[in-house]
Amino acid sequence: MGNARIVGSGSFLPEKIVSNEELAATLNSKGIKTSDEWIIQRTGICQRHLAENLTTSYMAGEAAKLALLDADIKSSELDMIIVATSTPDNVFPSTACLVQANIQAYSASAFDIQAACSGFVYALSVANSFISSGFAKNIMVIGSEIFSRIIDWNDRKTCVLFGDGAGAFVLSESGDLHSGILSVDLQANGDYSSILSVGSHFNNSAIVGDPFIRMDGQAVFKQAINFLEISARNICKKSNFPLESIDWFVPHQANIRIMNALGHKLGIPNDKFIITVDKHANTSAASIPLAFDYARKDGRIKERDVVLMQGVGGGFTCGSILAVV
Ligand code: ACO
Repeated sequence: MGNARIVGSGSFLPEKIVSNEELAATLNSKGIKTSDEWIIQRTGICQRHLAENLTTSYMAGEAAKLALLDADIKSSELDMIIVATSTPDNVFPSTACLVQANIQAYSASAFDIQAACSGFVYALSVANSFISSGFAKNIMVIGSEIFSRIIDWNDRKTCVLFGDGAGAFVLSESGDLHSGILSVDLQANGDYSSILSVGSHFNNSAIVGDPFIRMDGQAVFKQAINFLEISARNICKKSNFPLESIDWFVPHQANIRIMNALGHKLGIPNDKFIITVDKHANTSAASIPLAFDYARKDGRIKERDVVLMQGVGGGFTCGSILAVV
Protein backbone atom coordinates (compact mmCIF):
# COMPACT_ATOMS: atom_id res chain seq x y z
CA MET A 1 0.00 0.00 0.00
CA GLY A 2 1.52 3.36 1.00
CA ASN A 3 0.71 6.81 -0.26
CA ALA A 4 -0.57 7.83 -3.67
CA ARG A 5 2.19 8.78 -6.10
CA ILE A 6 1.89 10.83 -9.31
CA VAL A 7 2.91 8.34 -12.00
CA GLY A 8 1.73 10.30 -15.04
CA SER A 9 0.46 13.72 -16.08
CA GLY A 10 -1.17 15.21 -19.15
CA SER A 11 -2.57 18.52 -20.37
CA PHE A 12 -5.02 19.84 -22.89
CA LEU A 13 -5.32 23.44 -24.02
CA PRO A 14 -7.77 24.58 -26.71
CA GLU A 15 -6.19 25.76 -29.97
CA LYS A 16 -7.79 29.18 -29.89
CA ILE A 17 -5.50 31.72 -28.18
CA VAL A 18 -6.58 35.27 -27.45
CA SER A 19 -3.82 37.74 -26.58
CA ASN A 20 -4.34 40.70 -24.26
CA GLU A 21 -4.07 43.02 -27.27
CA GLU A 22 -6.87 41.17 -29.06
CA LEU A 23 -9.08 41.06 -25.97
CA ALA A 24 -8.42 44.75 -25.23
CA ALA A 25 -9.29 45.68 -28.84
CA THR A 26 -12.63 43.81 -28.57
CA LEU A 27 -13.46 45.41 -25.22
CA ASN A 28 -12.35 48.88 -26.34
CA SER A 29 -14.59 48.60 -29.41
CA LYS A 30 -17.53 48.13 -26.98
CA GLY A 31 -16.46 51.21 -24.99
CA ILE A 32 -14.94 49.12 -22.17
CA LYS A 33 -11.48 50.47 -21.44
CA THR A 34 -8.58 48.14 -20.80
CA SER A 35 -5.09 47.52 -22.18
CA ASP A 36 -2.36 44.91 -22.49
CA GLU A 37 -0.25 47.00 -20.07
CA TRP A 38 -2.97 47.09 -17.37
CA ILE A 39 -3.63 43.36 -17.58
CA ILE A 40 0.06 42.38 -17.47
CA GLN A 41 0.93 44.79 -14.72
CA ARG A 42 -2.01 43.81 -12.43
CA THR A 43 -2.16 40.07 -13.16
CA GLY A 44 0.88 38.79 -15.12
CA ILE A 45 -1.48 37.37 -17.77
CA CYS A 46 -0.43 37.78 -21.45
CA GLN A 47 -2.92 35.47 -23.18
CA ARG A 48 -5.61 32.84 -22.59
CA HIS A 49 -6.89 29.74 -24.45
CA LEU A 50 -10.62 29.63 -25.20
CA ALA A 51 -12.61 26.40 -25.63
CA GLU A 52 -15.12 27.79 -28.16
CA ASN A 53 -17.23 24.70 -29.09
CA LEU A 54 -15.33 22.16 -26.98
CA THR A 55 -16.78 20.65 -23.80
CA THR A 56 -15.28 20.27 -20.33
CA SER A 57 -15.54 16.46 -20.59
CA TYR A 58 -13.83 16.40 -24.01
CA MET A 59 -10.88 18.46 -22.73
CA ALA A 60 -10.72 16.30 -19.59
CA GLY A 61 -10.66 13.16 -21.75
CA GLU A 62 -7.83 14.47 -23.92
CA ALA A 63 -5.71 15.34 -20.86
CA ALA A 64 -6.55 11.95 -19.33
CA LYS A 65 -5.40 10.04 -22.44
CA LEU A 66 -2.02 11.80 -22.32
CA ALA A 67 -1.69 11.11 -18.58
CA LEU A 68 -2.37 7.40 -19.20
CA LEU A 69 0.31 7.29 -21.91
CA ASP A 70 2.74 9.08 -19.60
CA ALA A 71 1.97 6.64 -16.77
CA ASP A 72 2.14 3.69 -19.18
CA ILE A 73 -1.07 2.16 -17.88
CA LYS A 74 -4.29 1.21 -19.68
CA SER A 75 -7.63 2.88 -19.00
CA SER A 76 -8.97 -0.55 -17.98
CA GLU A 77 -6.55 -0.50 -15.03
CA LEU A 78 -8.16 2.61 -13.51
CA ASP A 79 -10.26 2.04 -10.36
CA MET A 80 -11.62 5.58 -10.11
CA ILE A 81 -11.96 8.85 -12.02
CA ILE A 82 -12.41 12.13 -10.15
CA VAL A 83 -12.99 15.36 -12.07
CA ALA A 84 -12.64 18.71 -10.32
CA THR A 85 -14.75 21.30 -12.11
CA SER A 86 -17.10 24.21 -11.54
CA THR A 87 -18.10 24.20 -15.20
CA PRO A 88 -19.40 20.65 -15.84
CA ASP A 89 -21.04 19.71 -19.16
CA ASN A 90 -24.33 19.00 -17.34
CA VAL A 91 -25.87 19.24 -13.88
CA PHE A 92 -25.67 15.45 -14.14
CA PRO A 93 -24.36 12.97 -15.24
CA SER A 94 -21.02 13.97 -13.78
CA THR A 95 -18.22 15.02 -16.12
CA ALA A 96 -16.24 12.08 -14.68
CA CYS A 97 -18.84 9.60 -16.03
CA LEU A 98 -18.55 11.19 -19.50
CA VAL A 99 -14.76 10.87 -19.32
CA GLN A 100 -15.09 7.25 -18.19
CA ALA A 101 -17.07 6.42 -21.35
CA ASN A 102 -14.72 8.48 -23.56
CA ILE A 103 -11.58 6.68 -22.39
CA GLN A 104 -13.39 3.35 -21.88
CA ALA A 105 -12.36 2.96 -18.26
CA TYR A 106 -15.28 0.72 -17.37
CA SER A 107 -13.69 -0.67 -14.18
CA ALA A 108 -13.55 2.81 -12.70
CA SER A 109 -16.07 4.47 -10.43
CA ALA A 110 -16.52 8.12 -11.39
CA PHE A 111 -17.62 11.35 -9.74
CA ASP A 112 -17.00 15.11 -9.75
CA ILE A 113 -15.75 17.41 -6.99
CA GLN A 114 -16.58 21.09 -6.77
CA ALA A 115 -14.33 23.29 -4.64
CA ALA A 116 -13.86 26.08 -7.21
CA CYS A 117 -10.16 26.85 -7.81
CA SER A 118 -9.16 24.52 -4.93
CA GLY A 119 -10.97 21.62 -6.61
CA PHE A 120 -7.92 19.81 -7.95
CA VAL A 121 -6.18 19.76 -4.57
CA TYR A 122 -9.38 18.58 -2.87
CA ALA A 123 -9.67 15.84 -5.53
CA LEU A 124 -6.04 14.76 -5.02
CA SER A 125 -6.64 14.50 -1.29
CA VAL A 126 -9.69 12.25 -1.87
CA ALA A 127 -7.71 10.07 -4.30
CA ASN A 128 -4.87 9.81 -1.79
CA SER A 129 -7.29 8.60 0.91
CA PHE A 130 -8.75 5.91 -1.38
CA ILE A 131 -5.28 4.69 -2.37
CA SER A 132 -3.66 4.80 1.07
CA SER A 133 -6.64 2.94 2.59
CA GLY A 134 -6.20 0.17 0.00
CA PHE A 135 -9.60 0.78 -1.63
CA ALA A 136 -8.10 1.72 -5.02
CA LYS A 137 -4.81 1.15 -6.84
CA ASN A 138 -4.94 3.56 -9.79
CA ILE A 139 -6.94 6.79 -9.85
CA MET A 140 -7.29 9.41 -12.59
CA VAL A 141 -7.66 12.93 -11.16
CA ILE A 142 -8.56 15.68 -13.62
CA GLY A 143 -9.12 19.43 -13.42
CA SER A 144 -11.08 20.71 -16.42
CA GLU A 145 -12.76 24.09 -16.82
CA ILE A 146 -14.47 26.34 -19.34
CA PHE A 147 -14.70 29.55 -17.37
CA SER A 148 -15.17 31.52 -20.61
CA ARG A 149 -18.84 30.33 -20.44
CA ILE A 150 -19.51 31.88 -17.01
CA ILE A 151 -17.67 35.15 -17.58
CA ASP A 152 -19.52 38.41 -18.14
CA TRP A 153 -17.54 39.59 -21.18
CA ASN A 154 -18.65 43.17 -20.42
CA ASP A 155 -17.10 43.14 -16.94
CA ARG A 156 -13.46 44.19 -17.32
CA LYS A 157 -12.77 43.36 -13.65
CA THR A 158 -13.20 39.64 -14.33
CA CYS A 159 -13.19 38.89 -18.06
CA VAL A 160 -9.46 39.52 -18.49
CA LEU A 161 -8.53 36.99 -15.80
CA PHE A 162 -9.66 33.57 -16.97
CA GLY A 163 -8.86 30.91 -19.58
CA ASP A 164 -9.97 27.36 -20.45
CA GLY A 165 -8.06 24.07 -20.24
CA ALA A 166 -7.60 20.70 -18.56
CA GLY A 167 -4.87 18.83 -16.73
CA ALA A 168 -4.76 15.26 -15.42
CA PHE A 169 -2.72 13.08 -13.06
CA VAL A 170 -2.63 9.31 -12.76
CA LEU A 171 -2.07 8.35 -9.12
CA SER A 172 -0.92 4.88 -8.08
CA GLU A 173 0.25 3.18 -4.90
CA SER A 174 3.74 4.38 -4.01
CA GLY A 175 4.60 1.23 -2.06
CA ASP A 176 6.00 3.19 0.88
CA LEU A 177 5.30 6.12 3.18
CA HIS A 178 8.26 8.28 2.10
CA SER A 179 7.29 8.92 -1.52
CA GLY A 180 4.17 10.23 -3.18
CA ILE A 181 1.76 12.42 -1.23
CA LEU A 182 3.33 13.07 2.16
CA SER A 183 0.68 15.33 3.64
CA VAL A 184 -2.59 17.15 2.95
CA ASP A 185 -4.07 20.36 4.38
CA LEU A 186 -7.62 21.43 3.48
CA GLN A 187 -9.41 24.57 4.59
CA ALA A 188 -12.74 26.30 3.99
CA ASN A 189 -14.51 29.35 5.40
CA GLY A 190 -18.05 29.98 4.16
CA ASP A 191 -18.09 33.41 5.83
CA TYR A 192 -16.22 34.60 2.72
CA SER A 193 -18.65 32.99 0.23
CA SER A 194 -19.79 36.32 -1.20
CA ILE A 195 -16.37 37.63 -2.30
CA LEU A 196 -16.18 35.20 -5.23
CA SER A 197 -19.25 33.48 -6.61
CA VAL A 198 -21.53 32.51 -9.46
CA GLY A 199 -24.78 33.11 -7.60
CA SER A 200 -27.37 31.33 -9.72
CA HIS A 201 -29.29 28.06 -9.97
CA PHE A 202 -31.85 26.41 -12.25
CA ASN A 203 -35.53 26.42 -11.35
CA ASN A 204 -38.28 25.20 -13.68
CA SER A 205 -36.14 25.66 -16.81
CA ALA A 206 -35.09 29.20 -15.87
CA ILE A 207 -31.76 30.44 -14.53
CA VAL A 208 -32.49 32.15 -11.24
CA GLY A 209 -29.89 34.70 -10.13
CA ASP A 210 -26.75 36.09 -11.73
CA PRO A 211 -25.19 33.52 -14.14
CA PHE A 212 -21.75 35.17 -14.16
CA ILE A 213 -18.67 35.21 -11.92
CA ARG A 214 -18.70 38.15 -9.55
CA MET A 215 -15.68 38.98 -7.48
CA ASP A 216 -14.48 41.50 -4.93
CA GLY A 217 -10.96 41.52 -6.39
CA GLN A 218 -9.20 43.17 -3.50
CA ALA A 219 -10.84 40.95 -0.86
CA VAL A 220 -9.98 37.84 -2.90
CA PHE A 221 -6.42 39.07 -3.33
CA LYS A 222 -5.99 39.55 0.43
CA GLN A 223 -7.69 36.30 1.48
CA ALA A 224 -5.91 34.22 -1.15
CA ILE A 225 -2.49 35.23 0.21
CA ASN A 226 -3.68 34.79 3.79
CA PHE A 227 -5.13 31.28 3.26
CA LEU A 228 -2.17 30.11 1.14
CA GLU A 229 0.38 31.23 3.71
CA ILE A 230 -1.47 29.57 6.62
CA SER A 231 -1.97 26.34 4.67
CA ALA A 232 1.70 26.19 3.55
CA ARG A 233 2.89 26.62 7.12
CA ASN A 234 0.31 24.07 8.42
CA ILE A 235 1.33 21.36 6.01
CA CYS A 236 5.04 21.78 6.73
CA LYS A 237 4.37 21.62 10.45
CA LYS A 238 2.11 18.55 10.11
CA SER A 239 4.63 16.66 8.01
CA ASN A 240 7.66 17.99 9.88
CA PHE A 241 9.12 19.08 6.55
CA PRO A 242 11.04 22.40 6.36
CA LEU A 243 9.49 24.93 3.97
CA GLU A 244 12.90 25.85 2.59
CA SER A 245 13.60 22.22 1.59
CA ILE A 246 10.67 22.17 -0.84
CA ASP A 247 12.02 22.09 -4.42
CA TRP A 248 9.01 23.50 -6.28
CA PHE A 249 5.95 25.54 -5.38
CA VAL A 250 3.00 25.00 -7.74
CA PRO A 251 0.29 27.37 -6.53
CA HIS A 252 -3.06 28.00 -8.20
CA GLN A 253 -2.31 30.29 -11.15
CA ALA A 254 -4.65 33.21 -10.40
CA ASN A 255 -2.38 36.19 -10.47
CA ILE A 256 1.41 36.70 -10.50
CA ARG A 257 1.12 39.31 -7.74
CA ILE A 258 -0.57 36.78 -5.42
CA MET A 259 2.27 34.30 -6.07
CA ASN A 260 4.97 36.95 -5.57
CA ALA A 261 3.36 38.11 -2.31
CA LEU A 262 3.12 34.49 -1.09
CA GLY A 263 6.80 33.91 -1.89
CA HIS A 264 7.69 37.08 0.00
CA LYS A 265 5.63 36.08 3.08
CA LEU A 266 7.11 32.57 3.13
CA GLY A 267 10.65 33.78 2.38
CA ILE A 268 10.85 31.61 -0.75
CA PRO A 269 12.66 32.92 -3.88
CA ASN A 270 10.51 33.51 -6.98
CA ASP A 271 12.52 31.02 -9.05
CA LYS A 272 11.11 28.14 -6.96
CA PHE A 273 7.60 29.02 -8.18
CA ILE A 274 6.21 27.38 -11.32
CA ILE A 275 4.43 30.13 -13.25
CA THR A 276 2.10 29.55 -16.21
CA VAL A 277 -0.47 32.28 -15.54
CA ASP A 278 1.18 34.36 -18.30
CA LYS A 279 0.35 31.68 -20.91
CA HIS A 280 -2.81 30.02 -19.56
CA ALA A 281 -4.43 32.79 -17.43
CA ASN A 282 -6.55 31.50 -14.52
CA THR A 283 -7.98 28.09 -15.45
CA SER A 284 -9.47 27.47 -11.97
CA ALA A 285 -9.34 23.74 -11.05
CA ALA A 286 -7.18 23.00 -14.11
CA SER A 287 -4.40 25.45 -13.28
CA ILE A 288 -2.32 23.26 -10.94
CA PRO A 289 -2.14 20.12 -13.14
CA LEU A 290 -1.48 22.32 -16.18
CA ALA A 291 1.39 24.09 -14.42
CA PHE A 292 2.79 20.86 -12.95
CA ASP A 293 2.69 19.08 -16.32
CA TYR A 294 4.30 22.06 -18.05
CA ALA A 295 7.23 22.09 -15.60
CA ARG A 296 7.60 18.30 -15.66
CA LYS A 297 7.75 18.27 -19.44
CA ASP A 298 10.30 21.12 -19.59
CA GLY A 299 12.51 19.17 -17.17
CA ARG A 300 12.29 21.41 -14.10
CA ILE A 301 10.21 19.04 -11.92
CA LYS A 302 12.10 15.76 -11.72
CA GLU A 303 11.65 12.41 -10.00
CA ARG A 304 12.26 12.63 -6.21
CA ASP A 305 11.69 16.41 -6.17
CA VAL A 306 9.48 17.66 -3.35
CA VAL A 307 6.57 19.74 -4.62
CA LEU A 308 4.00 21.86 -2.78
CA MET A 309 0.75 22.23 -4.76
CA GLN A 310 -1.70 24.81 -3.41
CA GLY A 311 -5.21 25.65 -4.52
CA VAL A 312 -7.30 28.61 -3.36
CA GLY A 313 -10.61 30.05 -4.46
CA GLY A 314 -14.36 30.38 -4.13
CA GLY A 315 -16.00 29.10 -0.98
CA PHE A 316 -13.63 30.41 0.34
CA THR A 317 -11.53 27.27 0.03
CA CYS A 318 -7.85 26.44 0.15
CA GLY A 319 -5.83 23.25 0.06
CA SER A 320 -2.22 22.09 -0.02
CA ILE A 321 -0.58 18.83 -1.04
CA LEU A 322 3.06 18.08 -0.24
CA ALA A 323 4.39 15.34 -2.49
CA VAL A 324 7.59 13.60 -3.52
CA VAL A 325 7.38 13.18 -7.30
N1 ACO B 1 -8.56 47.20 -17.30
C1 ACO B 1 -8.36 48.46 -16.91
N2 ACO B 1 -8.76 48.94 -15.71
C2 ACO B 1 -9.37 48.08 -14.90
C3 ACO B 1 -9.62 46.73 -15.23
C4 ACO B 1 -9.18 46.31 -16.50
N3 ACO B 1 -9.37 45.05 -16.94
N4 ACO B 1 -10.24 46.12 -14.21
C5 ACO B 1 -10.39 47.06 -13.25
N5 ACO B 1 -9.88 48.23 -13.66
C6 ACO B 1 -9.82 49.49 -12.95
C7 ACO B 1 -10.82 49.56 -11.81
O1 ACO B 1 -12.11 49.89 -12.27
C8 ACO B 1 -10.21 50.65 -10.98
O2 ACO B 1 -10.54 51.89 -11.55
P1 ACO B 1 -11.00 53.13 -10.62
O3 ACO B 1 -9.82 53.41 -9.76
O4 ACO B 1 -11.29 54.18 -11.62
O5 ACO B 1 -12.18 52.62 -9.86
C9 ACO B 1 -8.71 50.45 -11.16
O6 ACO B 1 -8.56 49.65 -12.35
C10 ACO B 1 -8.08 49.73 -10.02
O7 ACO B 1 -8.92 48.63 -9.69
P2 ACO B 1 -8.61 47.68 -8.50
O8 ACO B 1 -9.72 46.71 -8.34
O9 ACO B 1 -8.20 48.49 -7.32
O10 ACO B 1 -7.31 46.96 -9.09
P3 ACO B 1 -6.40 45.94 -8.41
O11 ACO B 1 -5.02 46.42 -8.36
O12 ACO B 1 -7.01 45.41 -7.14
O13 ACO B 1 -6.42 44.78 -9.49
C11 ACO B 1 -7.42 42.62 -9.73
C12 ACO B 1 -7.64 44.11 -9.79
C13 ACO B 1 -6.42 42.22 -10.79
C14 ACO B 1 -8.73 41.87 -9.97
C15 ACO B 1 -6.88 42.29 -8.32
O14 ACO B 1 -7.72 42.78 -7.32
C16 ACO B 1 -6.67 40.85 -8.12
O15 ACO B 1 -5.79 40.25 -8.68
N6 ACO B 1 -7.45 40.22 -7.27
C17 ACO B 1 -7.36 38.81 -7.07
C18 ACO B 1 -8.44 38.23 -7.80
C19 ACO B 1 -8.09 37.07 -8.66
O16 ACO B 1 -6.99 36.77 -9.01
N7 ACO B 1 -9.17 36.42 -8.97
C20 ACO B 1 -9.12 35.27 -9.76
C21 ACO B 1 -10.19 34.36 -9.34
S1 ACO B 1 -10.02 33.94 -7.70
C22 ACO B 1 -8.93 32.80 -7.59
O17 ACO B 1 -8.63 32.15 -8.54
C23 ACO B 1 -8.35 32.62 -6.27
